[in-house]
Amino acid sequence: MTIGEIRRQTTARLRPVAGDLAALEGDRMLGFLMNCGPTELTLRAGNAIQSADEEKLATFVADRLTGRPLAYVIGHVEFYGLDLLCDPRALIPRPETEELVAAALDCLPEPRSVIRPLAVDIGTGSGNIALAMANQRPDLHIIGTDIDRQALILADENRRRLDLGTRVQLVGGRSLTMFRPAAIFDLIVSNPPYVVPGDPNLDRSVVDFEPHVALFAGPSGLEILFELLVGAEILLKPGGWVVSEIGFGQGNEIRDFLRTRPIWGDPVIHRDLAYIERILTVQRRR
Ligand SMILES: C[S@@+](CC[C@H](N)C(=O)[O-])C[C@H]1O[C@@H](n2cnc3c(N)ncnc32)[C@H](O)[C@@H]1O
Repeated sequence: MTIGEIRRQTTARLRPVAGDLAALEGDRMLGFLMNCGPTELTLRAGNAIQSADEEKLATFVADRLTGRPLAYVIGHVEFYGLDLLCDPRALIPRPETEELVAAALDCLPEPRSVIRPLAVDIGTGSGNIALAMANQRPDLHIIGTDIDRQALILADENRRRLDLGTRVQLVGGRSLTMFRPAAIFDLIVSNPPYVVPGDPNLDRSVVDFEPHVALFAGPSGLEILFELLVGAEILLKPGGWVVSEIGFGQGNEIRDFLRTRPIWGDPVIHRDLAYIERILTVQRRR
């Protein structure tokens, strides 16, 4: 079979589960196997596909048809220009979290203004945020924490593959509880669990396949963020920043909470590409 034929066939087979994204997902699978992008697939449309690739593609498609998300099927995801291992030990890194990374990088002290800025990423999951930030800022030291041991093992695998082990540390535990009470961090970044249990807008494939410890906080969805903000009052240097992803419609409750804690400056909540309030940035007063 030619690459052009298998592309058309794969798109048709994926349609029931991937809908309008079927062609994109098929190209992602084939491109992953052949180590190339969609343009090269088009240029090679008349070439025969290798039988090993055809067989592997068939297993990818069958797996995807069970409803398993594409990133888990392939076992890889691209995040902030990095190729990361991705499997059900941790949440699949989302595109909106790339906006969180960009906002967090903006809040770091200028290079050379302090020696080695120190940051912590709470709930590091696959390590995506900590690794992307360390990759962008060669002077940064960042600690990734997670309550889930399996997620930390995956983060460690990603850290080794990217050779970022000297500047990215990984620590197990809840929120900020593992750090001694001193103002040590320039930045605290997090994409905490913030989904309210029973949220009707949550996709079936998310609930069925992604780890629940990565999704759900408590009844309000804000429990883990608020715990983090209280801990940050002690662990953040004066002038340091908290940058956190937040859930749909949580902005006002977060603003109300911060208003009761005079240590914080005025919060800014940035909207994502869908114009939803998504990224909180707030500075500890100097
Ligand atoms: C929404 S996921 C984010 C994962 C990854 N940082 C990302 O952006 O894709 C939240 C992560 O926080 C971890 N977690 C849940 N509760 C936690 C807590 N109380 N303290 C630290 N980590 C926690 C979960 O295991 C999960 O890996």
